Amino acid sequence: MSTWLSHKLPTVDPSQVPDVKAITEQLTQEFDIPTDHLKKIVAQFQEEMQKGLDREGATVAMIPSFVTGRPTGDEKGKYLALDLGGTNLRVCQFELLGQGEYKVHQQKYVVSDELKTGEMRHLCDFIADCVDNFVTENGSNNVDSNLQLGFTFSFPVLQTDINRGTLMHWTKGFKCTGAVDKDVVVLLQDAFLRKNLNVHIAAIVNDTVGTLMAHAYKYPETSMGVILGTGTNACYYEKLTGIKKWKGGDTVFEEMVVNMEWGAFDNERRVLPLTIYDNKLDRESINPGEQMFEKMISGMYLGEIARNTILMLVDRLLLFKGDSSHDLNTQWRFETAYMSTIGEDTSADLKDTKHVLEEILQIPSTTKEDRQIVKHICFLVGQRAARLAACGIASVLQHTGESEKKSVVAIDGSVYEFYPDFEQMMTTALKELFGDDIVNRVKFDLARDGSGFGAAMVAMMSHKASQVKQSTSA
Ligand code: BGC
Repeated sequence: MSTWLSHKLPTVDPSQVPDVKAITEQLTQEFDIPTDHLKKIVAQFQEEMQKGLDREGATVAMIPSFVTGRPTGDEKGKYLALDLGGTNLRVCQFELLGQGEYKVHQQKYVVSDELKTGEMRHLCDFIADCVDNFVTENGSNNVDSNLQLGFTFSFPVLQTDINRGTLMHWTKGFKCTGAVDKDVVVLLQDAFLRKNLNVHIAAIVNDTVGTLMAHAYKYPETSMGVILGTGTNACYYEKLTGIKKWKGGDTVFEEMVVNMEWGAFDNERRVLPLTIYDNKLDRESINPGEQMFEKMISGMYLGEIARNTILMLVDRLLLFKGDSSHDLNTQWRFETAYMSTIGEDTSADLKDTKHVLEEILQIPSTTKEDRQIVKHICFLVGQRAARLAACGIASVLQHTGESEKKSVVAIDGSVYEFYPDFEQMMTTALKELFGDDIVNRVKFDLARDGSGFGAAMVAMMSHKASQVKQSTSA
């Protein structure tokens, strides 16, 4: 078993120039996932997906979203959306115009760390204030007596209806008290009532589901929604007969969107190629042992894995002559966004990398070799994330048979959008798994900021369905 002390890395005399080649080779091996191992991960993934579809309580939760049917693109009307789960809270008003077109007004609000870790009641009151402010400023409160809202809540919620669901646990640095095992829609609707806000939460939607619906509005062949951002997760259309644990009764639809909650994949640590740097991150996180797949892939964590790796080399006197800085020694301080800057730095003496290390992180001085090693570490951590993300997508494509057909995977999130070559590295892994011609069938599409729009659309579908129900029972 590897520990911090026994872990073998080449050591050097501090008076000598580090052997860059030996160090980079060692790290390359540690972060590499060869094709055979990718295949093992996919096999395990499929097993876990099946368990989640068969019964409650599985590690990969495979949550029925109550979203049935596909958008036609002709949906019309004005709906509100609320998006909570990433860095900001967004409140939006969408006007669906038909033919895949829409207009949007939106406003972003910063959610402070105190709100993220305080009482749920305070978070809900804050959200209600933001919605109040938004509808007042946009004059939306004059438009309709009862505004319908789609709530994108990007956490694991066990849904019991299209607008009902209990929070299973928090992820991504949120930890409000008084929310786990409670119906989050009821908590938020109560906050609206306390403020006399005439807004009805018509749907609660995971961000993956919102992304899928938004993209399918324009491109109906979209079969999967994926988030590779602060956190990671995916959803896809599953046959209702494939969801053995489904107890929601008959629906006229043959398929339903399943929110996988794949961030928890392999919490049992069977196949994930965890390094000492990952273990350190996990142990020091607020949810040790949880979201293991997410912790190797998403933007909240990649910088921290890189920081742990860099510090290990500093301690071995292989980087920065053994000097660190207060910033580099601080947990979470090495942001994933810096890795993108470093990854894109092709200048001869790596000047942007120098800026990040010396100006932002205050490391007293760095050599070109130091900067090359740091760049290599960032590349390795990013490449491993891309290959793991591809394993998740491959597992779904294989499960549904979409790998044999033409299909579109809608992907949103900062890691996918901004990490250099992320898409290309995912495609390479997909080719290793399915053969080169997979690119002629499966297409990755950037679906920027789709989740709010998707939630508004689900709210519309749910509102229309409830109106039909009321008129037929009257
Ligand atoms: C949450 C998911 C969400 C994903 C992406 C994860 O931490 O558990 O519900 O879809 O982040 O935002």
